[in-house]
Amino acid sequence: MDNISILAKNLTKKFGNYTAVDKINLSIKKGEIYGFLGPNGAGKTTTIRMLTGTLTPTAGEISILGLPMTEYELEIKRRIGVVPDEPKIYEGLRGREFLDFIIGVYNLDKDTILPRVEELTSAFVVDYLEDYIGDYSHGMSQKLMLISVLMREPEVMFLDEPTVGLDARAARILKELLNKYAKEGATIFLTTHVLEIAEKMCNRIGIIDKGLLIAEGSLEELQHLSNEGHTSLEDLFLELTGNENVREIVEALK
Ligand SMILES: Nc1ncnc2c1ncn2[C@@H]1O[C@H](COP(=O)(O)OP(=O)(O)O)[C@@H](O)[C@H]1O
Ligand SMILES: [Mg+2]
Repeated sequence: MDNISILAKNLTKKFGNYTAVDKINLSIKKGEIYGFLGPNGAGKTTTIRMLTGTLTPTAGEISILGLPMTEYELEIKRRIGVVPDEPKIYEGLRGREFLDFIIGVYNLDKDTILPRVEELTSAFVVDYLEDYIGDYSHGMSQKLMLISVLMREPEVMFLDEPTVGLDARAARILKELLNKYAKEGATIFLTTHVLEIAEKMCNRIGIIDKGLLIAEGSLEELQHLSNEGHTSLEDLFLELTGNENVREIVEALK
């Protein structure tokens, strides 16, 4: 149990009569990079919001770093890092002021953090820390949010669609950094609707569709799940999420 960083039992969220997340079970070990893969509307963001304590589940249990969310929400929030899909950050602040604000909130040691900020800003080519966040593009805000989380080197990181606003170079750097942190013992949970991102970045993948976790495993394990004639993970994904008709349409258009 000690090495399980993210545990969810029968995690469920209903919005009215609609079940956005349906009895999901997760058990993610320290050091894993777990990809939560699913089409738009599958329930990825809702799951992340529950796992990070910003949305109360309708039913089910969550433990992060062995701590039950219901009793240890504040300690959990101190020890994790979250990069939301739509960063709502302080528009009236400059990037540098936002990072200073986070350093203050988490009571971080500037001598440790500032060299990391320098490394991260140069890796992600963030040369706009003196500009106002309100003037940033989506990708620029996303990189600032990534830096504000990565600089803390939290034990568990949740990244919701982290590559959407990133160019290929930044995505590659993120992948390398996540690998480094995971090797050092961090646990990473990232969501994506892009199969290729899950394949490239993650050690283990869970496929979610319509609120249900419909398959889970390493890349090799998932490929074994493929039926005859479905050799690629892409085929499996399309088959599981019932989107094969989309493929047929695309093929027909060629
Ligand atoms: N606050 C909310 N109120 C009502 N429905 C919601 C709310 N948040 C999400 N949903 C619905 O739950 C489903 C899952 O959404 P979401 O978790 O954002 O999916 P994903 O991140 O996989 O695209 C969608 O049908 C969405 O419309
Ligand atoms: Mg989402």
